[in-house]
This record gives sequence, C-alpha cells and structure tokens, in this order.
Amino acid sequence: MDRSEHVHYGRRRGRRLRPGRQRLLKDLLPRLRLPVGDLGVLAQRPPAEAFCGYSDVWLEVGFGQGEHLAAQAHANPDTLFIGCEPYVNGISSLLRTIASEEIGNVLIHDDDARVLLESLPDASVGRLFLLFPDPWPKRRHRKRRFVSPTNLDRIARILVDGAEFRFATDHAEYARWTLRHVIDHAALEWPATRPGDWRYKAGDWPETRYERKATAQGRTCVYMTFRRRARAVETDGQSG
Ligand SMILES: C[S@@+](CC[C@H](N)C(=O)[O-])C[C@H]1O[C@@H](n2cnc3c(N)ncnc32)[C@H](O)[C@@H]1O
Repeated sequence: MDRSEHVHYGRRRGRRLRPGRQRLLKDLLPRLRLPVGDLGVLAQRPPAEAFCGYSDVWLEVGFGQGEHLAAQAHANPDTLFIGCEPYVNGISSLLRTIASEEIGNVLIHDDDARVLLESLPDASVGRLFLLFPDPWPKRRHRKRRFVSPTNLDRIARILVDGAEFRFATDHAEYARWTLRHVIDHAALEWPATRPGDWRYKAGDWPETRYERKATAQGRTCVYMTFRRRARAVETDGQSG
C-alpha cells in the first residue's frame, strides 16, 4: 500500500470485552492468525498439501461479528476460509462461535484487508465476499469506500478465473458506485440479466448481522455477484 492509503477509518475497539472473550483473543486468535508474510503456499492450487487437503480458499472482507463466515465454513468443510476484520469485538464474536461450534476451517487476518490482498499470491482465492461494507455516504468521505479502482485491481489479481466476488449493500448509491467501478474494470464482469439477480440472493448466502438490522428497519438490500474474467493466455505460455 502506498503511504496515502495507510489510514484505516473504521473502529478497532468497542465496549470492554468480558474476560472469556479476552481469553479467546489471547489464546485462540494466535492459533488462527494467518501468517501474512508467508502466503506463497496458497499459490499452489488446489492447495492440498500445504492446506491439509482443502480444495479451495474463500475470503471474507470485513466479516463483522462473523455470522456469515461461520455459516459458510460449516456448509463448506472442504474449503479453507480466511476472514479479515480489524474490529476486535467482532473478532471475539467469531472466535466464540468457532470455539463453541468446533469450526476448524477458518483462519483470521485481524487487520486491514488491504494488507492481506497485497500479500496473497495471484489467482489464489476461489470466492470473495464483501458484505455491507461501510457506505461512507457523505460525498467528501467516498474515497474511504472499500470499493475503489485500486482495491478492485487487488481483488481481480488474487481471484482465480471465473471466481465469484459477492457484494451486498443496503445503500443504493454505494450499489451504483460499485456497479460503475466493476463495469469499468477490465478483469471483472457482472453476469446479471434480470432484476431478480440483484434483488434476491442465492440460497447459499447466509444472513449477516448488518443485513438483519437493515431489513428489520425496512431498508432494501442489493446482492450482486460479480465474476473474475478468464485471464488471456499469452504466447509464451504465461497467463496474464
Ligand atoms: C457495516 S460493517 C458490516 C459487517 C458485516 N459484513 C455485516 O454485514 O454484518 C463493515 C465492517 O467492515 C470492517 N472494515 C472496514 N474497513 C475494513 C478494512 N479495510 N479491512 C477489513 N475490514 C474492514 C469494519 O470493521 C466493519 O466490521
């Protein structure tokens, strides 16, 4: 990341954590923390040997309290999940679920997702979720939005050809912003053909906490599934 990007705008801490949650952060988090400096192993696809037989790697950016991530991890035991979230209270919620439900296929990056996106090898992630990212509604704050040309470049680089990039928001203007940026991106496409494709989500798309609140308050959610285009095969045999 260049220096101008170094700021993370969200909260890192909320109210004081109970001792049980503090213990999870102290004891369990270090065991599940992804070694960001050493991710070359993920370049082997499928990453069977290096990742204990998992057939794919899926990534969630900004998992909040982790409901969606935990449900996906349960439903897809052969997939290794990486969750990114800098908010300590949210991480402790996910850790509690992981411990109580004995979920074994989740690793955590407890920092800014941009750092992880920069560290992952090319074409190493089979699906990426960005669900209800902070909308930063004020015009002067829009540059804080996670969807930006730079982050879409990062996402496109790490996704395998044909991979899904799932995005959801309850903010109509952020939905339009995202669509515009994705359509402008050469490596991503939006294969939707009818309104049902963004008004309703796929059956394998568990609800998030933010989504539940938005729906309860009568806001309309939009669900977009983008796709990583196939890389062109270059004449020297390398893909680009
Ligand atoms: C509005 S909340 C939504 C949380 C969750 N996805 C949900 O739907 O309930 C946005 C989340 O993104 C996280 N976030 C913001 N910037 C981030 C970044 N640069 N990297 C990773 N997570 C980020 C925030 O900490 C927050 O938990």
